Amino acid sequence: MPNPGLNITLQRESEEPLYRQLIARIREQIDSGDLPPGRRLPASRNLARRLGISRISVVNAYSELRAAGYLSARAGRGTFVARERIAAPEASAESPQRSPRQDRRRAAAIRDMMRLARKPGVIDFSSGSPPSEFFPVSYLQDALNQVIDRDGAAALSYEAAEGYLPLRSAVRDYVRAIGIQCRLDDVLITGGAQQAIDLVLQSLLSPGDTLVTADPTYLGVMDIAQARRVHIHGIPIDDDGIRIDTLENIIGDLRPRLIYVMPSYQNPTGHLMPMHRRRQLARLAARHGIPVLEDEVYREFRFEGEELPPLKALDDSGVVIHTNAFTKVLLPGIRIGYLIAGEAYNERLSRVKQAADISTSGLHQRAIHLLLERGVLAQQLERNRIELRRRRVAALAAAQRYFPAGSKWFSPQGGLYLWVELPEGGPSAAETFIAALQRDAAFAIGGLFYSGDGGGHAMRLNFGIHRPAAIEEGFGRIGAAWRALAAEVGGLEAGVVL
Ligand SMILES: Cc1ncc(COP(=O)(O)O)c(C=O)c1O
Repeated sequence: MPNPGLNITLQRESEEPLYRQLIARIREQIDSGDLPPGRRLPASRNLARRLGISRISVVNAYSELRAAGYLSARAGRGTFVARERIAAPEASAESPQRSPRQDRRRAAAIRDMMRLARKPGVIDFSSGSPPSEFFPVSYLQDALNQVIDRDGAAALSYEAAEGYLPLRSAVRDYVRAIGIQCRLDDVLITGGAQQAIDLVLQSLLSPGDTLVTADPTYLGVMDIAQARRVHIHGIPIDDDGIRIDTLENIIGDLRPRLIYVMPSYQNPTGHLMPMHRRRQLARLAARHGIPVLEDEVYREFRFEGEELPPLKALDDSGVVIHTNAFTKVLLPGIRIGYLIAGEAYNERLSRVKQAADISTSGLHQRAIHLLLERGVLAQQLERNRIELRRRRVAALAAAQRYFPAGSKWFSPQGGLYLWVELPEGGPSAAETFIAALQRDAAFAIGGLFYSGDGGGHAMRLNFGIHRPAAIEEGFGRIGAAWRALAAEVGGLEAGVVL
C-alpha cells in the first residue's frame, strides 16, 4: 500500500547517524500531521530498501518511536502511527517523573522486545531464573509421594493462612541462624517472595502513598506498585547500594511509607551492601520510624566474600521486614517464600494473605519442608555456589573479550547477574538488544529497571543460567551486534576499538 505522507530524505554526509535522522524525520511528520494517527508505515524491509540503509536502522528507529509512544505495532499487521500519542522521552527527561501512562507504554514496548528473546535458538541472558539443570526434580517427586502417603487428604486441604507449622518452625530456625531474633508468630509463609512484597505493600500502603527504592531496582516491585497505585521514588545508588544522604532528604520531603531494598547481590546490578551501609540504613529507618522491606532472595548465592547479617538482624526497633524464598535456591515453580515481620505487622499481614489466596499450597509446603529435612537445600546451595563461581569467571572473561572498549562492569561476589554499562557514545542497550536478537542472543535492557530515566546504555546479563561455552558464544554475539551497529551508525569517538 502506498504511503503518501512518508517522504524521507536522509543526509548521508551528516554527522547525525542515519537511524537518528530517520527517527527525527518520522517524528516531524507525525507532529505536523502529515502522518495522521492510524496511518500504516512501510515494512522495515521495504523502507530500508527504499532509503538504501540497513534494515537494523529502520527496526531500531521504529522501536524507539514505539517506546516513545509515536508508533504502535499490531502483531502480524505492521507498524502504525499511534492513535493516542504521549510525550517523547526527550520531553520527559526534563522532568524527573514520568507519567503513569508513559511508564506503561514504555514498559509495554520494552516487554514486547523481551518476549522476542524467548524464541528457540536464542542464547537468552534476560531471565531471572536460576540454572534449571540443577533443579532437584527427582527429590521433589519422592517428597511429594511421601507427603501424600504420610498425610493423605490433610496435605490437600486448606492450610492455615500463616503456613504449615513445621515449615514455619524450620524457617524460624533458619533465620535465627543468620542473626534474626524471631518467634514462630513472626513467620508467614507466602507464594514466593513476589507475593511477600505484594502483601507488605497491601498491608502498609494505600493508593497514592510513596514507596522508596533504589534506582535501578527489581522490576517486579515496580509492577506491584503500579497495580496497587503506589508511587515509586527511585534513589540513586553508589557502589555500596542505595545512597543514604539522598534517602534522608527524600524521607524529609516525601514521607515515604516504605523503603524496599535488596542488600545482597541486588537485582539488577549485583551490588552487595556493605556492613556500614546496612547499619546506616537500619539506623535511619528506626530514627524516622519508616518500615523497610529487605528482599534477600539472592542471599544464598554467595560465592565469594564474607557473609553479612541481614538488615533485620541489625534492627532493634522492629521496623525491618525480611523476605526470602525457596524459589531461586530450590525450585522457582514451587511457589514458597516467607516473610519475617514482627508484632506491629503480623496480624495485618496474615489478614491480607488470607484475602489474597487463603493459603499457600499445603502439599508444596510439606514437600519443601521434607527437602529441608533431608538436606537437599544445603546440597543445592553448595552446588549452586561452585557452579555460579565458575560461570562468573567465564562471564568476566567473555565480557573482557567481546564487549566494546569503554564498557564498565564490576565482578559480583554473588547472585546471578552481570551489569554492564556500554559506552555512552555508542549504540544504546535497546538498539543493541534488537541487533543482538538478530544474531540469536538476548539480555535484559537496563532501562527496564529504572523508575525514572536511566540505564539507556546498561545491560543485565544472567550468567548463572548458562554453561561457560554458551556464555562465551552469547557474549560474542552481543559484542558483534554492538560493533556492527556502531560501525553502521557511526557517532563514536575516533580511536574506540570496534
Ligand atoms: C529481587 C527479587 N525479588 C523477588 C523475586 C521473585 O521471587 P519469587 O520467585 O520467590 O517470587 C525476584 C525474581 O526475579 C527477584 O529478583
